[in-house]
Amino acid sequence: MKGILLAGGSGTRLSPMTLAASKQLLPVYDKPMVYYPLSTLMLAGIRDIMVISTPEDLPQFRRLLGDGARFGVRFAYAEQPRPDGIAEAFLIGRDWIAGEACALALGDNLIFADHLSVLLRAASARPRGATVFAYRVRDPERYGVVSFDEAGHARDIIEKPAQPESNWAVTGLYFYDERVSDFAAAIKPSARGELEITDLNRRYLEEGSLHVERLGRGCAWLDAGTPDSLLQAATFVQTIQSRQGMLVGCPEEVAFRLGHIDAATLHAHAMSLGKTELGRVLAELADDHHG
Ligand code: TTP
Repeated sequence: MKGILLAGGSGTRLSPMTLAASKQLLPVYDKPMVYYPLSTLMLAGIRDIMVISTPEDLPQFRRLLGDGARFGVRFAYAEQPRPDGIAEAFLIGRDWIAGEACALALGDNLIFADHLSVLLRAASARPRGATVFAYRVRDPERYGVVSFDEAGHARDIIEKPAQPESNWAVTGLYFYDERVSDFAAAIKPSARGELEITDLNRRYLEEGSLHVERLGRGCAWLDAGTPDSLLQAATFVQTIQSRQGMLVGCPEEVAFRLGHIDAATLHAHAMSLGKTELGRVLAELADDHHG
């Protein structure tokens, strides 16, 4: 399975911070925002990742992420000239996806859960259909909202409904089978002129192959698209890391735990981070496994 990291958009809700910088490169506590969804894709076992951003911002992503060797993955890069919708990612990436199954992670979405790897592995192993993750929120009207029938099966998905039928928002992490680019090509732009990810999900829902995984109480989902949620995300990461001494959203750590890089390589990466706390924790992890 391949994966797309979508990091374009205009980031108007974070203006003026986003006037001269990409939203997804802003810090969330001690790492660039894009590290978090990148770690999520990696935890799903994905190693071929296309980073899509605006023509202005793409060079910065290349500078930050390189060819992927640092994390034991391979990056490809592509431009989205205008923010014409999330589902457009599958048209931009069509040749690169080359008829494989493909996941998509939004560059400003952070998901934390104890058993996340298990959920992600299950989603990527599903041979047919699509998997999305739903999360209960107080303000569902800002998102794609999924409603369920009495048996708990997804009944409908509506983008930013004025009167939401449930509190379950669809998060920015999606897994699709190998038909995804064909389905995306058949979508028409919405009234706001975008190729809507909700329309793509609805296509799978209509044929009965959309799996909606509900994330429960023990999970946190944040989209860092506003000043408040950006601060909340940073505080959340800081709390977990400083309290538990564990890292959140660190691709070097994920690469090491998955066996993509060895302890000596992890140690070298830790050294490259200088005197940071992040470097110290990674060095400790590498040394533990040496001895
Ligand atoms: P949004 O938060 O919906 O949009 P935005 O990032 O442009 O921000 P704002 O609403 O403040 O102007 O986008 C969600 C994510 O998807 C975000 O990481 C940007 C990305 N995105 C694209 O890369 N291309 C697109 O065409 C769209 C609509 C979003």
